[in-house]
Amino acid sequence: MKIAFFDAKQYDKPSFDKFSEERNIKIKYFETKLNEDTADLLEGKNYDGVCVFVNDTVNKEVIDRLSEMNVKYIALRCAGYNNVDMKEAAIKNLKVVHVPAYSPYAVAEHAMALLLTSIRRIHKAYIRSRDFNFSLNNLTGFDLHGKTVGILGTGKIGRVFLDICRGFGMKVLCYDKFPDKSIENENVRYTDLNEIFEKCDIISLHCPLTEETYHIIDEISIEKMKKGVVIINTSRGALVDAEALLNGIKMRKIGAACLDVYEEEGDLFFEDKSGHILEDDTLARLISMPNVIVTSHQAFLTEEALENIAETTINNLIELKETGKSVNELCFKKGEASRCKG
Ligand code: NAI
Repeated sequence: MKIAFFDAKQYDKPSFDKFSEERNIKIKYFETKLNEDTADLLEGKNYDGVCVFVNDTVNKEVIDRLSEMNVKYIALRCAGYNNVDMKEAAIKNLKVVHVPAYSPYAVAEHAMALLLTSIRRIHKAYIRSRDFNFSLNNLTGFDLHGKTVGILGTGKIGRVFLDICRGFGMKVLCYDKFPDKSIENENVRYTDLNEIFEKCDIISLHCPLTEETYHIIDEISIEKMKKGVVIINTSRGALVDAEALLNGIKMRKIGAACLDVYEEEGDLFFEDKSGHILEDDTLARLISMPNVIVTSHQAFLTEEALENIAETTINNLIELKETGKSVNELCFKKGEASRCKG
């Protein structure tokens, strides 16, 4: 089997080389992202599949081109699949697989790292002490103990984050399209979005990006929130209307924002843009704020997660080749993409 691996980074290769050699899969690494222009790199090379990540573009045009070149498999090496036109993949009979869980701990722990850094001003203190500035002015934080956190999406990552928050003695309000009432207790309760917006000191996003969740944090929801609320987004950028977030910060409504993802991150995140002029004024303004921390889609990046991603992706491809199916296959049915069942 021959796979074209797009948006390859130096940290991807050791784990993918290890598992692909073991399972006799040939991988050609491309540093470029997959999109309408780069799909042609596969022309005449008889690739069986492509391996893509969160910012590759797998839209109708790309899928049609892949199909013309007899590519059969789209292997996402991530959980989210909002960047794949699943309807077109189904029409063209391309099999799509993903990695549903590689380390929920990696993402949930990063969310908590961002929260603690932000509210205890660690990012400011680090820079000060390197300059031998040992003043404590403007470094006052607040205790997490006793605060209320709102968790949107109580799947694998949301639940690990919930447990971490409980370890800090926080009360938890949850919102999920498919609530699992078994996780409720005297300190953990499901409710609606309005109560979360009105009562929570911290709101952390762990639901997928869908039509329903697009801009779930917008001007209207921010208006309902408590003054000083901290917003954490380690899920997908477009869950948050970045302009509305920036306005909320400027109005002093939002106390802090911790962002591992950003709506327009596609051409920026994962790349070194330090020598360039940043064209995105909203991102530039957000980054300039003292109470905003931005990491560039880094939450997944642990040794454990990279191993799991590579092993699962290679297993998914082997399953597809040997049986035509995979436990991690995605289907498009009744107008929606979801995991295939049976
Ligand atoms: P999951 O599928 O285990 O959980 C998602 C939860 O969201 C489920 O409980 C589901 O019922 C709920 N949900 C679905 N639609 C909803 C809606 N309209 N409103 C409210 N809740 C809804 O997914 P997991 O593994 O917990 O990942 C969550 C998200 O984290 C992924 O979709 C992905 O976008 C993001 N992610 C980010 C990473 C990073 O490096 N920053 C790495 C991995 C995932």
